[in-house]
Amino acid sequence: MAFNVLVTRSIPEAGQRLLREADASVHVNPHDRPMRVDEIVAAVADVDGVLCLLTDRIDANVLEAASRCVGFANYAVGYENVDLARATELGIMVSNTPGVLTETTADLTWALLLATARRIIEGDTMVRQGRFHGWGPMLLLGADVFGRTLGIVGAGRIGTAVARRAHGFGMHVLYAETCGKGTIEALGATCATLDELLRESDFVSLHVPLTDQTRHLIGREQLASMRPSAILINTSRGQVVDEKALIDALRSGVIAGAGLDVFEREPALTPGLADLHNVVVTPHIGSATTTTRTTMATMAAGNLIDMLRGRVPANLVNPEVLPLRRQALGLHEA
Ligand code: GLV
Ligand code: GLV
Repeated sequence: MAFNVLVTRSIPEAGQRLLREADASVHVNPHDRPMRVDEIVAAVADVDGVLCLLTDRIDANVLEAASRCVGFANYAVGYENVDLARATELGIMVSNTPGVLTETTADLTWALLLATARRIIEGDTMVRQGRFHGWGPMLLLGADVFGRTLGIVGAGRIGTAVARRAHGFGMHVLYAETCGKGTIEALGATCATLDELLRESDFVSLHVPLTDQTRHLIGREQLASMRPSAILINTSRGQVVDEKALIDALRSGVIAGAGLDVFEREPALTPGLADLHNVVVTPHIGSATTTTRTTMATMAAGNLIDMLRGRVPANLVNPEVLPLRRQALGLHEA
């Protein structure tokens, strides 16, 4: 076998097959749970490359233990789970899976938006529990979506794909945080400051990556500036929202509802969140379709294979590492 590779949790077979076909000896975490940090530290010492997940904390300890590794291919578009600065210092390449999950995540965002606005989960529960006693004029009144204002915070690929779907709902779209560099303007969306967007939107949907600048981007003050009828949707990263402040806002009617696919201390929920009827929660399934997860698997595997073969992977997120690697290994351009 040419290479030893660690896959930190079983991913769709297509990805693992690609690695084996590339002549790698593939070690897959045998458990259906994330590996503990100590397990990862022990496992990375003997491998040439790692295919890791967003639930793995690839910190300095892991990276320092991975002295033989050329790279870590993250099976996610977000990569805040990797200490990128340390990886770069150590000459370790890091890649992600952008683009392929954009439409799938935008679909889930809309599923949450509609489910929250139209109280789908409350209705489903009522029917199953035998509490539906016939059509009622005041039964489960929700919020209109058609014709309302949608605020996209983070107008990257996913934010833009969410905005595109808003066309069919005749919505006015505002966007903030990435003004003027995406393709969202072409959809007729209007650039706004975050403050304006929060004040004017009926629905606010978050699509920023998690960084030091976006941690708690939506806190008590931002929630207070939203409309009492507003609904917040988050399919980005839980830590973008101050979850305690959100619970208080939902409880006291500062905003009307929230649809959340991600949580601040995932998978733990802040106490009180699960008791709120005006919240729809899903277990971080934004990219979870068979097709998309299979594509992510082959994309992450492809990135890792390129790294192992001394090529620059298509989705390298720390290109600053290249001079160092070229020096060390005589890396070729892809
Ligand atoms: C999922 O959350 C991802 O970043 O791919
Ligand atoms: C992530 O893929 C984004 O740019 O929204």
